[in-house]
Amino acid sequence: MNLKHCFNTQQFRRLAKKRLPGPIFHYIDGAADDEVTLRRNTSAFDDCDLVPNVLAGVENIDMSTTVMGKKIDLPLFLSPTALQRLFHYEGEYAVAGAAEQFGTWFGISSLATVGIEDIGARISSPKMFQLYYHKDKGLTNSMIERCKEADFDAIALTVDTIVGGNRERDLVTGFTSPPRLTARSVFSFAAHPRWTMNYLFRDKFELSNLKDYVDEGTNVSMSVSDYFSTMLDQSMDWTAAEQVRKNWGKEFCLKGIMSVADARRAVDIGATAIMVSNHGGRQLDGSRTPFDQLAEIVDAVGDKIDVICDGGIQRGTHVLKALSVGAKACSGGRLYLYALAAAGQAGVEKTLSNFRAEIERGMKLMGARSVADLGRDNLRYRVPPTGAA
Ligand code: LAC
Repeated sequence: MNLKHCFNTQQFRRLAKKRLPGPIFHYIDGAADDEVTLRRNTSAFDDCDLVPNVLAGVENIDMSTTVMGKKIDLPLFLSPTALQRLFHYEGEYAVAGAAEQFGTWFGISSLATVGIEDIGARISSPKMFQLYYHKDKGLTNSMIERCKEADFDAIALTVDTIVGGNRERDLVTGFTSPPRLTARSVFSFAAHPRWTMNYLFRDKFELSNLKDYVDEGTNVSMSVSDYFSTMLDQSMDWTAAEQVRKNWGKEFCLKGIMSVADARRAVDIGATAIMVSNHGGRQLDGSRTPFDQLAEIVDAVGDKIDVICDGGIQRGTHVLKALSVGAKACSGGRLYLYALAAAGQAGVEKTLSNFRAEIERGMKLMGARSVADLGRDNLRYRVPPTGAA
């Protein structure tokens, strides 16, 4: 199988599994506990059907939407994710380049493997920085300052990683940042010489935006879950989030909002967007899915703040369902990480091209000439959604 034959996320996933040493693949692919939420994030879309309209004159359709003040060509963007140079040596540059080509948002993580300023200098399309609120306030503030200097468009403060999720696959494989050879993993690295050569002989691995402040993750190997539990500030609260927004002063998003009460508080502290997200099922297993939670959040705050449905997206029709509920856009991580691992920037471009074609085809078949034409009338739930238990 090669890139030409990757028509969907699952095919990219299979290719990524071939290309990556086991511990790296399972870090991307895995989630918390029994991975119930991971599976539900995608299967929730199947509990809701699309009801198309026809004869709408759809020869020219407009897929654009506006998120945090920026018009994007597609109602789908690439969520910030960590450690990308471990997945392909082109790393964050590949993802940024592909997002720019397709005219959509992307983000880099606090745990990125390239510097904030390197991305700022290279990419003119909308970019966000995903902020982890560290115990080390000098570090947290330094990242905000670097984003200002590099003219980033938004900061997304992640609020669902106050401790690390129980990622049992990582416990089994011994995955850490930087990767460590263990008795168990050595064969897996040896069996992937291309990956291993790239890792050893290309630019040295580092967490570029953290390394001047902390050794963990760059010089001292640590699992991501332990990193969250030991390095992030568990006292972070609404006052702290509001303070970050004030220090930053531009578009501000909270990533990992799931309840209506929190969505309202996000509005109160002046956030301009929320990503309804359970961190790809990697934190609280058993958490409800973003798609299932979307309607009540849109009803409460959709006229005041941009609501983004993050997670579980594997098809263009998933995007159409979320937009029909009222999301401004969708976003995801694995949907492009498998493609990055499979083929670098060319892979990310191919997955975006697949999604664009699927969204366009889906909108035409739905009789929607623009995303504004999608609404709740287009949806029927197999089992009517329930409210509070
Ligand atoms: C993760 C973080 C780093 O889920 O976002 O692994």
